[in-house]
Amino acid sequence: MKVPYFDLKAQYAGLKNEILGAMDRVCQNAAFILGDEVAQFEKEFAAYCEVKHCVALNSGTSALHVALLAAGVGNGDEVITTPNTFIATAEAISYTGAKPVFVDIDPATANIDPKLIARAITPKTKAIMPVHLYGRPAAMNAILDVAARQRLAVIEDACQAHGARCRGKRVGGFGLAAAFSFYPTKNLGGYGEGGALTTNDEYTAQLARSLRDHGAAHRYTHERIGYNYRMDGFQGAVLRIKLKQLDGWTAKRQELGRQYRKHLANARVELPHDDPHDECVYHLFAVYVDNRDAVRAELEARGVQTAVHYPMPLSLQKAYANLGYRPGSLPQAERACERVLCLPMYPELRLEQAEYAAKTLAEIVGPK
Ligand SMILES: Cc1ncc(COP(=O)(O)O)c(C=O)c1O
Repeated sequence: MKVPYFDLKAQYAGLKNEILGAMDRVCQNAAFILGDEVAQFEKEFAAYCEVKHCVALNSGTSALHVALLAAGVGNGDEVITTPNTFIATAEAISYTGAKPVFVDIDPATANIDPKLIARAITPKTKAIMPVHLYGRPAAMNAILDVAARQRLAVIEDACQAHGARCRGKRVGGFGLAAAFSFYPTKNLGGYGEGGALTTNDEYTAQLARSLRDHGAAHRYTHERIGYNYRMDGFQGAVLRIKLKQLDGWTAKRQELGRQYRKHLANARVELPHDDPHDECVYHLFAVYVDNRDAVRAELEARGVQTAVHYPMPLSLQKAYANLGYRPGSLPQAERACERVLCLPMYPELRLEQAEYAAKTLAEIVGPK
């Protein structure tokens, strides 16, 4: 059996007519940048995330950047985040002139360990940026507690976690602002680049609207230096159609997650911990194995494609060599990066394909 790691074409086949119709509407109205489809999507996505405001942008990276600017983060400040994430999380901090400060992860969840945050806080710390990695909510209650004690802003990197719930509440509204990515492979993905900032704070929403459009208050009246971070009309149109499917797709991902857990229960793999009070939306299904690269090659030889998110913590990336982290600085994140293996996870994956992938992995690694 062949189990591809991803299959975006299968999803298009089911939505083709609706999507082409919506794209045609954008063309007929020549609403290529922002426009009505984007404005409607903002309303619908804000309602979905249970927040007051959604500002549509051209990427998740831009959303993180704008959220940090709204928190007043700038030159010389420090922002605490996780090293176990995509580089965009830290890059957005760097764009503001601030320094990312990496705090090690809780190996059970792969998210930032809230117990380690307090000791990383200095007089320069301005904000904490947890990432809901793989669709699993970070420990928001504990993070909000530390932040409140030290008067720090919290910005959620929710780029992998559309619709996830932490203690019953959707991610996106826990801190000052949150960033979502609509990169095509995300749980809610556009047909190009896209992102959004969500917030319950009126000022942050207004600032984000201004910053995404060259700091404009009205056309050709600029209150500040901004950016070209606008979402294009096609993305708004596509995302509106896909948003209607999102809960169904998430349920399918969760079912696949249960399938993986069932067939891997007795195998020599570590499975991620799901807090029963939260809801993980399984952007990725990450497991941890010894001899990861050999296991991966054997899976590939038996028809199961996998991926490694991420092979190296940000603390050891050349791009951040100036921060002075060394192997051993953040041992849990480093160990996770050496052992992590992501199994195929997308709504169109058939249960029997997941069963085959899990059983093949169990055979390769052997019993516990
Ligand atoms: C955790 C995380 N943060 C930020 C981003 C950046 O989003 P984008 O690619 O839309 O800029 C991504 C996705 O690529 C991500 O996975």
